[in-house]
Amino acid sequence: MIGSILETIGRTPLITIPNTNTKHEGQVLLKYERYNPGGSIKDRPALFIIQEAERRGWLHPGGTIIESSSGNFGISLAMIGAAKGYRVVILADPKTTGANLALLRGFGAEVIIVTEQDDSGSYHKTRISLANKLAGEIDNSFRPDQCFNLLNSEAHYRSTAREILEACPGKLAAFVTAVSTGGQLGGISHYMKIYAPEVQIIGVDAVGSTIFGGESDAYRIPGIGLSWTPVNLNLNDIDCAYKITDEQAFVAARAFARNEGILMGPSSGACALVALKTAQELAPGERVVCMVSDGGERYIQTLFNEEWMGEQIFAASVGAEELRTMARRLQPWSVRPNYRPDLVQSLGVPETTLHMNRDSGRLARQSTE
Ligand SMILES: Cc1ncc(COP(=O)(O)O)c(C=O)c1O
Repeated sequence: MIGSILETIGRTPLITIPNTNTKHEGQVLLKYERYNPGGSIKDRPALFIIQEAERRGWLHPGGTIIESSSGNFGISLAMIGAAKGYRVVILADPKTTGANLALLRGFGAEVIIVTEQDDSGSYHKTRISLANKLAGEIDNSFRPDQCFNLLNSEAHYRSTAREILEACPGKLAAFVTAVSTGGQLGGISHYMKIYAPEVQIIGVDAVGSTIFGGESDAYRIPGIGLSWTPVNLNLNDIDCAYKITDEQAFVAARAFARNEGILMGPSSGACALVALKTAQELAPGERVVCMVSDGGERYIQTLFNEEWMGEQIFAASVGAEELRTMARRLQPWSVRPNYRPDLVQSLGVPETTLHMNRDSGRLARQSTE
């Protein structure tokens, strides 16, 4: 018997894509994070950070959790808050989908929609500064701070990365995941560089995001991208990166639903497309693990809405062969660092985050330098 819903987080399966992947190339294995109880990979860092905050005395019974999130991390915190009895306040933005808002409120979280755009045209910086300001004003509150708290990547170092290597001992050639806060890519790449340095580490970002450098522009892939390189990600641990267009991400996610029966969000469509490209360059018997950070239900009104797809002028459906051609044509992006140590001060990163980062010395890097 399981004591609490929170005990079901992690230990997600690896799934093959036999209708898309051929026998003459490497094998794609999707790490299917939709099976976490909050529906996404973000359950892992959310629980880890909350447990650490409780252990270190930063979060007390009756406390309030305040976070900036337009999607999955907020939903995970809302679920954890409901299970543990904390008040949860989430700062979302106009891009947050109706489904995500409903889930947040369903778990009892209070939602504040931040409408002011930042200097890159997104809402990350305005949401973060407001969350930091509120955390200073609300008594007995705690900011998990997924963007600046190194415990985010530490969570993946301790759980996700270990699960992957335990499931594929000695047979893993490459690892692919998407990046926003850098939690998954930063934590898993760091683990692999220590315990399986032969694994090629591949990051996936959106065209228009500047995590790996380049020009900033608007993009529609939810959950991916940032206008700077996050402190949770050490670019020295990355071997290769791709930037994926909105159309490639949405079309790929829809193709995996139709051709394989696997629901995934657009960020995972982008990753799975890159994983397919990687597999095409590997020999049979070699494996590439690709994170599928969430499922497709959260995107019913966009990804699985043909009218919406038509309005974006995105192709509505492609078969496995066309998807394979799309993958083959992808070209790697040449990475340039875009770290912004100045943001710690200008966004008012809370002392608790800096303190936690000093404590977790193993990963402490740019944020405290
Ligand atoms: C669906 C989805 N994919 C990918 C990511 C990127 O993960 P990370 O923030 O760990 O870099 C996120 C983050 O919110 C996400 O929600």
